[in-house]
Amino acid sequence: MKLCTRTILITGGSSGIGLELAGQLIAAGNTVLITGRSEQALQRAKGRFPELHIFQSDVSKAEDIRSLHEQVAAHYPKLDTLINNAGVMKIVPLQDPRTLEALTQEVDINLKGAMRMVQQFLPLLKSQSDALIVNVSSGLAFVPFAVSPVYSAAKAGMHAYTRCLRAQLLGTKIRVAELAPPLTETPLFSAEFKGKMKGEKGMPVDVLVRKALAAIEAGKCEICPGQSNILRIASRLAPGFIFRQLSKVV
Ligand SMILES: NC(=O)c1ccc[n+]([C@@H]2O[C@H](COP(=O)([O-])OP(=O)(O)OC[C@H]3O[C@@H](n4cnc5c(N)ncnc54)[C@H](OP(=O)(O)O)[C@@H]3O)[C@@H](O)[C@H]2O)c1
Repeated sequence: MKLCTRTILITGGSSGIGLELAGQLIAAGNTVLITGRSEQALQRAKGRFPELHIFQSDVSKAEDIRSLHEQVAAHYPKLDTLINNAGVMKIVPLQDPRTLEALTQEVDINLKGAMRMVQQFLPLLKSQSDALIVNVSSGLAFVPFAVSPVYSAAKAGMHAYTRCLRAQLLGTKIRVAELAPPLTETPLFSAEFKGKMKGEKGMPVDVLVRKALAAIEAGKCEICPGQSNILRIASRLAPGFIFRQLSKVV
């Protein structure tokens, strides 16, 4: 599959991995639509890549997704690729008091957001001759990170959901891929984690995206660049050991 003349919708495309995907996919000749919550961030992204089509839309809000679908179906009926990338990651001490809503926000965005998007856009994708869904999970889908319990649970859920979606869509014209990034140099990583990671460096975001796009074009369905693959293998060979090692990082 060549990613060159497609119409591609990326959730969370105003920053980090989503923005880099958008830039590389535009450079390859695709039409790229991005979403995000912050209008300012979307405008900044458009300033960097004027060809971008931007939509303010929150994946944790069903009404936002319905309205996004209406606009996309009307103006971009050839949409053939959905990249569920929007995500947030928090350090969550489970013994601290917080509202249930705050506690489960990462599930609403990182897992239910992708489910809502697939549910809403599946009929449009089905109407194309060759469609693609890419769900962005994480290396932490394979080994949970004790300081980020809700994130880890949501990403493990994303991995399971994506496998099932792929199995159910087998034999249709929709291909399903999962991108499980390793630690990657983006604002998400810099915000809460970098200072705590004892000098640990992430993969440069342009390198990650180049590897991911090459793997999608090569037909891979589970893409685990760099340390993500080490976590995947270690989770099978020595799950207790790798969980303890990862927990020691912070
Ligand atoms: N960086 C890493 O080390 C790493 C590792 C593994 C996996 N990942 C995954 O990769 C994906 C991208 O992360 P990143 O590192 O590129 O993060 P980032 O730089 O913080 O970008 C996150 C993007 O998601 C958007 N977003 C957040 N909540 C949203 C919502 N409710 N609705 C719509 N858009 C939303 C943000 O825009 P607004 O805030 O304006 O909405 C932003 O555009 C995430 O799923 C993350 O879990 C990242």
